[in-house]
Amino acid sequence: IKNLFLARHGQSEDNLAGRIGGDTDLTETGRSQAWALSRHFIGTPIPYVFTSTKRRTQEMAEPLVTARQYCSVFAFTEFDEIDAGECEGMTPAEIKERRPEVYAARSLDKYRYTYPGGESYEILAERVERGLKKAFFLSGNAENILIVGHQAVNRVILSHFLFRRAEDVPYIYIPQDRYFHIVSTHTKKLFELKKF
Ligand code: F6P
Repeated sequence: IKNLFLARHGQSEDNLAGRIGGDTDLTETGRSQAWALSRHFIGTPIPYVFTSTKRRTQEMAEPLVTARQYCSVFAFTEFDEIDAGECEGMTPAEIKERRPEVYAARSLDKYRYTYPGGESYEILAERVERGLKKAFFLSGNAENILIVGHQAVNRVILSHFLFRRAEDVPYIYIPQDRYFHIVSTHTKKLFELKKF
């Protein structure tokens, strides 16, 4: 692989409501972000696209994929968003109010904190790593691949290529109208955040 394009899904219904986790569709804004992503890459061959199994990442990839004749899409559970366990579907304000112990503990060590019945960034990183291995294996020597992931997933993917202290990983900025262009070889490392 020469170029890894790393995008996050566009705005989802849950994003709009401020709820974490879930499996909602993209909003109108999210769908126009998906079209913008597709338009941005017109003329760039992307033979492999990887998403999570959540609707929002698949809907984000849809316009780009349907516009192409040669494009294989794979949906990996390894790229699903961090599992917030008992806090899935809540807003941060609700967590603070109903599960103050969760809120406090997570703020202290966001990378290592494991949601009750869910995951930590540390655990997430292991499965994302497996997903990346699978994706690289399947795409062989393709020049370009696109991964459409989630906020926490993309933070972990970025830190796979660019060293970050564990405690900084959960705070990396992952917008919904931009993608990271990553070129990583033995001799060169390039990270660019670009608008689509
Ligand atoms: O809020 C969107 C989201 O993708 C949630 O589904 C997920 O729990 C969260 O971001 C991860 O970000 P943070 O670790 O900052 O809460």
